[in-house]
Amino acid sequence: MACMSGLVRRSWPSTSGFTDEFCQIGAGVSLPGILAAKCGAEVILSDSSELPHCLEICRQSCQMNNVPQVDVVGLTWGHVGRDLLAIPPQDIILASDVFFEPEDFEDILSTVYFLMQKNPKVQLWSTYQVRSADWSLEALLYKWDMTCVHIPLESFDADKEDIAESTLPGRHTVEMLVISFGKTL
Ligand SMILES: C[S@@+](CC[C@H](N)C(=O)[O-])C[C@H]1O[C@@H](n2cnc3c(N)ncnc32)[C@H](O)[C@@H]1O
Repeated sequence: MACMSGLVRRSWPSTSGFTDEFCQIGAGVSLPGILAAKCGAEVILSDSSELPHCLEICRQSCQMNNVPQVDVVGLTWGHVGRDLLAIPPQDIILASDVFFEPEDFEDILSTVYFLMQKNPKVQLWSTYQVRSADWSLEALLYKWDMTCVHIPLESFDADKEDIAESTLPGRHTVEMLVISFGKTL
């Protein structure tokens, strides 16, 4: 079955080994980034530099979860600003539910592309709720020279309406993608 990437389902890819530096884009409440920080990764959380209240939510999440070492920066998709220029090379970019507005898709990928220029081995790990079967990243991935692999939720026991005592997944269709630089992984 095809997913939003236009590619067929495959199994979990091997990652590039060294996965210490994580950056979350469109972080909001920042759950994946906070979890990565709790697991020992160097984490930078980001949200739009034009949405200071969202950056404040990231900071509050860090405080409430006792990870004061996590940096919070303003990265607006599609904009090359001071914080994006300053960000060090990353190993993993986390993106939870950022593909919700098709007009933003290319801006998101252009920001990811910029980070791929700093480390061509960086991977974008993204989960998203399928809101329309008509949306596709396929042409944009081709344009920005990226490859995408679909990660079945059942491969990490996440194909459930309840996860970790949360009923949030409910009956929504949720997908996971890993996007890498170049035509092949
Ligand atoms: C649907 S929320 C997801 C929040 C969080 N990642 C989660 O899964 O709960 C989308 C997030 O993207 C951020 N966002 C929206 N437009 C953005 C932009 N142009 N650049 C950067 N972040 C943006 C919002 O502030 C919000 O935090």
